[in-house]
Amino acid sequence: MKNKHSMHKLLLPGTALLALLMLTACERPPIDAQQTGYRGTAMADINNPRTEVKTAAANQVPDPLPLAPAAGPKARDIYQNVEVLGDLSVGQFARVMAAMTAWVSPEQGCNYCHLGENLASDDLYTKRVSRRMLQMTQDINSNWDQHVANTGVTCYTCHRGNNVPSEIWFTGDSPAASASMAGYTAGQNVPAPAAAYASLPADPFTGYLTQGDEPIRVQTGALSDQDNYITIQQTEKTYGLMMHMSDSLGANCTLCHNSASWGNWSTSNPQRVTAWHGIQMVKALNENYLSPLQPEYPDYRLGSLGDAPKANCATCHQGVQKPLYGVSMLPDYPSLAGD
Ligand code: HEC
Ligand code: HEC
Ligand code: HEC
Ligand code: HEC
Repeated sequence: MKNKHSMHKLLLPGTALLALLMLTACERPPIDAQQTGYRGTAMADINNPRTEVKTAAANQVPDPLPLAPAAGPKARDIYQNVEVLGDLSVGQFARVMAAMTAWVSPEQGCNYCHLGENLASDDLYTKRVSRRMLQMTQDINSNWDQHVANTGVTCYTCHRGNNVPSEIWFTGDSPAASASMAGYTAGQNVPAPAAAYASLPADPFTGYLTQGDEPIRVQTGALSDQDNYITIQQTEKTYGLMMHMSDSLGANCTLCHNSASWGNWSTSNPQRVTAWHGIQMVKALNENYLSPLQPEYPDYRLGSLGDAPKANCATCHQGVQKPLYGVSMLPDYPSLAGD
């Protein structure tokens, strides 16, 4: 009897401590809160200045290369195989080549895309892919200003000095897709990196960020309302996408929503509209540029189902609300701005 009593005494503080630990957020303080909505709506953005220092370092813009003269013969008149950058002077063309090298293949240099002496050759897949990338970049900058404004993007926004951008995704690319001790998991119920480590569907992208008209909606209606009925699976996938969007921007849900009513547009912040255009843009990039490049890539670049690497919000944003903190590199590289 006496023993049992003292056991309780020991157990209680232990349990309390454990409970306290479990209730605390996973991140060490300090925590900053910044008001984002109207007064009284309790809409705030929660940040941790300690982790922000790291993100800030990763989002600095590299110094622009010295300008090249616009005078002189055009690239298309001098070179043999120029389809996109033909209007540039030879000097400007060389400058863009040097910038692309610094942004995409600083270690391998020009030879990452060019075969030795013959610079006109399209033999390397990296060069063929790059030409498409040039067109994609111009398309983003000239046709998606409802998302990227005048800030726009360059190769650096996604590549940051890497051959392969650090944030890409493949269909069904998830720990849940492989056979596991848990048996059939319906593509979820394991912490999924794509859903910010929530146990939500591990591929919240296929159908939302590729062509398809899957609704980004959650279950609110009655089972009998068949026309508007949203399944639990669709609901969970929607939350998976939302977790990805928040995580990619280093933001809380309240950057875009008033949590009193997630679906209501009139009480949402303007950023939600920008995000909506972002979803349409990413869809178009994956469908018109990145997926069709599939036959160009060597097998080791493809996903487990043989699909091409694709983009999501993190590919450009990389943890911040505006990629590279909204600093535009386009004034220094106007040829990438498109029309
Ligand atoms: C990331 C890939 C990539 C890298 C790195 C790269 N280039 Fe290019 N290069 C291209 C593409 C794509 C084209 C075709 C552009 C077009 O169609 O408008 C091209 C075309 C050229 C041409 C025109 C050749 C012709 O006759 O058609 C020259 C010259 C050239 N590059 C020089 C260079 C030099 C010098 C470097 C290194 C400083 C370099 N490139 C690095 C992708 C690359
Ligand atoms: C919206 C983001 C984005 C932009 C902007 C972008 N890229 Fe890419 N790029 C990608 C993705 C995604 C891939 C596929 C990754 C892979 O190859 O595994 C890729 C692949 C490549 C590859 C193939 C690399 C390899 O080793 O397989 C090259 C080369 C490349 N891009 C060059 C460029 C150049 C040059 C520019 C600027 C003119 C550019 N990219 C702009 C997203 C982007
Ligand atoms: C960057 C802006 C942004 C962030 C951050 C964001 N959302 Fe969303 N959310 C949207 C947009 C845009 C839609 C509408 C998509 C559509 O209609 O195609 C949406 C839709 C939703 C819906 C569906 C509403 C309906 O009509 O059924 C829910 C629920 C939701 N979000 C919850 C969340 C939660 C929870 C978070 C945080 C984990 C979050 N969102 C973070 C932009 C955002
Ligand atoms: C091709 C690169 C790219 C991709 C991919 C991308 N964005 Fe953006 N986004 C940008 C740029 C550039 C800006 C800054 C525009 C500006 O200066 O106002 C931006 C701005 C935003 C903003 C406005 C932030 C603010 O403070 O006003 C939101 C919200 C946003 N993006 C959400 C998303 C979401 C959600 C996705 C994925 C569905 C996404 N973005 C994918 C490039 C991208």
